[in-house]
Amino acid sequence: MRVLVTGGAGYIGSVVVEELIAASAEAVVVLDDLSSGHAEAVASPARLVRGDVADHELVARICREDRIDVAVHMAASSIVGQSMSDPSGYYRNNVTKGLALLDALVAAGVRRLVFSSTAAVYGEPSASPITEEFALAPNNTYGETKLAFERALRWYERAYGLRHACLRYFNAAGATAANGEQHDPETHLIPIVLQVAAGKRSHVPVFGDTYGTPDGTCVRDYVHVSDLARAHVLAFEGLARNPSRAYNLGSGGGYSVRQVIDAAAEVTGKRIPSEVVAPRAGDPAVLVASSNRIRRELSWGPEKQDLRVILADAWAWLRAHPAGYQAN
Ligand code: UFG
Repeated sequence: MRVLVTGGAGYIGSVVVEELIAASAEAVVVLDDLSSGHAEAVASPARLVRGDVADHELVARICREDRIDVAVHMAASSIVGQSMSDPSGYYRNNVTKGLALLDALVAAGVRRLVFSSTAAVYGEPSASPITEEFALAPNNTYGETKLAFERALRWYERAYGLRHACLRYFNAAGATAANGEQHDPETHLIPIVLQVAAGKRSHVPVFGDTYGTPDGTCVRDYVHVSDLARAHVLAFEGLARNPSRAYNLGSGGGYSVRQVIDAAAEVTGKRIPSEVVAPRAGDPAVLVASSNRIRRELSWGPEKQDLRVILADAWAWLRAHPAGYQAN
């Protein structure tokens, strides 16, 4: 397997690269513009090319020189709130540039692709857990752009034979020894909670406590980034024998914001003050995955389901990298 990974310098991408190397991929080339990724997150011997996924000549050259046969497309803008104020940027990065990448891949003869999609394609589901058969009804621009790309893939397969797997991530969390979560600005719950534990922030703002959940705060399905990454390798193997598919990826359990804060206090041994503030626009009350399809078809299963393990790994990474990644 000779793989091109777009966005491979990002949080999830860097761990996918680690997994591909562990799975003995013959070549791993990362294409990333480093707008939010980190050069030092790319494990050796993967090769980092700094550039734009929509640069047809560049993609053609990489595919030719590195004899790429499969691709993982992870480069994207992925902050829900930001997508609501900047739909133009989100359509440009996630749809327009993504389609330009597909055209270059098809022209270069690449016929297998794994795409990073999201639970946000389901919007505000009326039941739980969520299966892949649920209605696709995004309630934010981010989810809408990811769905637009998923839909394009269907037609690219029909016309050009591009086999694909769309992996719909729920809430990626945790870290490996080498790679962890560092965004600027940070908007995700677990890194914010751990920054409070580390004394880098005063408290956690809890976005609403009157949702229809047991403790009133939102419930999410936190899935370890290593478990997510392993699914990409399985997805490629599956594409050789299965039709193109969408797969949910979660641990299958839900934890509320309060449960995350309490568990983090236990794991870190630190006080984690919090304060309830207004709900965040567009936050569904509960998002929990049924990952039965990928368990059944690709024999995937999470190995690090326990929230405490996920938090402990994220905490270990934060402690080992107090200043985060140095280079951009
Ligand atoms: N939250 C807080 N305070 C914070 C940050 C978050 O209370 O300071 C709450 C949110 O309201 C939400 C939960 O913690 O209920 C998790 O929030 P995150 O921002 O960590 O993650 P989201 O569930 O909003 O979004 C994540 C990904 C998206 C993806 C979505 C799909 O970041 O890209 O999961 O489930 F679309």
